[in-house]
Amino acid sequence: MVYRVPKRILLTGGAGYIGSHTYVALRQAGHDVVILDNFSNARRSVVARLEQITGAPVPVVEGDIRDNALLDRVFTDHRIDAVVHFAALKAVGESMAKPLDYFDVNIGGLTTLLRAMDRAGCRRIVFSSSATVYGVPDETPTPETAPFRAMNPYGQTKILGEEMLAWLAQSNPDWAIGVLRYFNPAGAHRSGLIGEDPADIPNNLMPFVAKVALGELDRIAVFGDDYDTPDGTGVRDYIHVEDLARGHVLSLGRLFETGQGHCVNLGTGRGYSVLEVIAAYKRACNRDLPHHITDRRPGDVPIYVASADKAAEVLGFRTEKGLDEMCASSWNWVSNIGETA
Ligand SMILES: NC(=O)c1ccc[n+]([C@@H]2O[C@H](COP(=O)([O-])OP(=O)(O)OC[C@H]3O[C@@H](n4cnc5c(N)ncnc54)[C@H](O)[C@@H]3O)[C@@H](O)[C@H]2O)c1
Repeated sequence: MVYRVPKRILLTGGAGYIGSHTYVALRQAGHDVVILDNFSNARRSVVARLEQITGAPVPVVEGDIRDNALLDRVFTDHRIDAVVHFAALKAVGESMAKPLDYFDVNIGGLTTLLRAMDRAGCRRIVFSSSATVYGVPDETPTPETAPFRAMNPYGQTKILGEEMLAWLAQSNPDWAIGVLRYFNPAGAHRSGLIGEDPADIPNNLMPFVAKVALGELDRIAVFGDDYDTPDGTGVRDYIHVEDLARGHVLSLGRLFETGQGHCVNLGTGRGYSVLEVIAAYKRACNRDLPHHITDRRPGDVPIYVASADKAAEVLGFRTEKGLDEMCASSWNWVSNIGETA
């Protein structure tokens, strides 16, 4: 079910990987959308690309979610009905080295944003959370009822963010909050104009594989092949970023329709191993993709797969795209345009 009444939505971090795809999905669903981004992890060229895809100017406010005065101006000028809050720092390893940066942006930024929303009387928000809140889960597929386990400062900020939002909802029933726990977003927009574009060596498997396919990196490091999984390599629940973007449209629709919050996993409910991803990417790019097995990474979990039942039940969300489409769209993006972005 897609909510049909057009609303004005603010996307914090809307120029980033998931935010830019969600921008397109929300515009296609008929909403007016404003992006707020400080471009700390996005290229300005994304805006022109979004204009090309949507055929209309893209309203962008350049600034920081920790800037009170700026947020007040945005809420006044644009009469925002709801926020989708993507803006955050997201690199697990970096969060171990610079925890205060992560608490500052992910928790300080969230608090500043929520205060500004409260002042403006805008109390509908969708929050980007992560499967990482489950740490090493006891159960797989992992249901939303699994306990929180922080494994690193990044994961801790997502847990704290969720808890803050839960207390806020309890304090005032006007708040309607959608918490979306993403599993492993992958792939790119079908146009090949937007996609994941990491500035450094990628943390995630698919952009790493993409760089090997492009010849920018020599070979893929596979961290461990002695896990208790069918081929010994780690298994993850990859979700196409266009499916993920659609999940946000449904989440917002549900908030507007019911005034009630929800917390759901967004995944496919099916896992793929590292070697399966490499094989699928080989099919997509038709190139050899050398890999080598190295030690396990500390803190890595053998299997991370979502229980996708609650998202289906509460949001009517079902994924439509599989691993081959994720690899093909990623390759289309990086080989056509990613290099010159
Ligand atoms: N990509 C994943 O694998 C993944 C998985 C689970 C959860 N998430 C969460 O989803 C959200 C979006 O992730 P993404 O992959 O699109 O990341 P991204 O880095 O591509 O996008 C985040 C955007 O926020 C902007 N930003 C960062 N700090 C800001 C600040 N202080 N003020 C304004 N803008 C700021 C960046 O410039 C960037 O455009 C994040 O909250 C992330 O933690 C991502």
